[in-house]
Amino acid sequence: MLVCDGITSDGVEPLVKLEGVELIFGKLEDIEHPENIQGIMVRSATKVTEEVLEKLPGLQIVARAGVGVDNIDINAATSRGVLVVNAPEGNTISTAEHTWAMMMSLVRNIPQANQSVKQGEWNRKKYTGQELYQKTLGIIGMGRIGSELAKRAKSFSMNVLVFDPYFSAEKQKELSVTSVDLDTLIQQSDIMTVHTPLTNDTRKLLNYDNLKHAKKGAFVLNCARGGIIDEEALLHYLDSDHLSGCALDVFEQEPPVSRSLIDHPNVIVTPHIAASTVQAQKNVAYMASDEIKSYLLNQPLKHA
Ligand code: MLT
Repeated sequence: MLVCDGITSDGVEPLVKLEGVELIFGKLEDIEHPENIQGIMVRSATKVTEEVLEKLPGLQIVARAGVGVDNIDINAATSRGVLVVNAPEGNTISTAEHTWAMMMSLVRNIPQANQSVKQGEWNRKKYTGQELYQKTLGIIGMGRIGSELAKRAKSFSMNVLVFDPYFSAEKQKELSVTSVDLDTLIQQSDIMTVHTPLTNDTRKLLNYDNLKHAKKGAFVLNCARGGIIDEEALLHYLDSDHLSGCALDVFEQEPPVSRSLIDHPNVIVTPHIAASTVQAQKNVAYMASDEIKSYLLNQPLKHA
């Protein structure tokens, strides 16, 4: 079993004592006999493409220690009979907390003010921020992470609008949020945050056409997947001062090649670390290992 992307031994505990399982920690390209690999565990860095699958003829299972499976060619894996499993629950809290930290940093200019003081400046007026209190937060995607974010927003006395075609009326009531269509959410939100997977339906979900209807001065966050928001459109509306700022943990290309958004003074960024906490990484590796263990022992799978 090949364990990639810096996943550590304490996370793969369910597999450590399993008879017949040898764990190899490292990179696929360093493996001497890839033909002997029967299972592989990855985060997002390793791309399990058709070519990679080609090099692993003995592969039976790919386990994603995390939520997004967009780094795995599922069709290619399925057509070869390779099972793909993930661990969608392990990093929910960390991702919601990071999004919250980004939101507060964004509206209070914390990264910019921090940088300025460290450079010897003392400019209190320049870094005047905004309160979250009684602002409207628009959450696009009300899965686990979106729902956790809604709870935090309510405790800050924010109004919460949500857009998610699969969100139940019961859940809406439980979280005291209001379901609206995407256009209404864009038009009425002071802050918008996306929490969907990246699929053909969600690619460029926020784009030139709909972001022009955003409130003047709105803020936008993406701590989900690069590509859900059109980066060129974001830059356009930031440059024209229609949007006040944006916070990005993820990019269309990672690491990003274009510097235009990153270098923009009203954009704050982190390097796809929303799920990078000690707790979340242990959780996702543990849950992915558990799925592999169930597969090897012919037991029912939770997230295949
Ligand atoms: C996920 O999909 O689980 C997160 O984006 C974190 C990661 O890529 O590992």
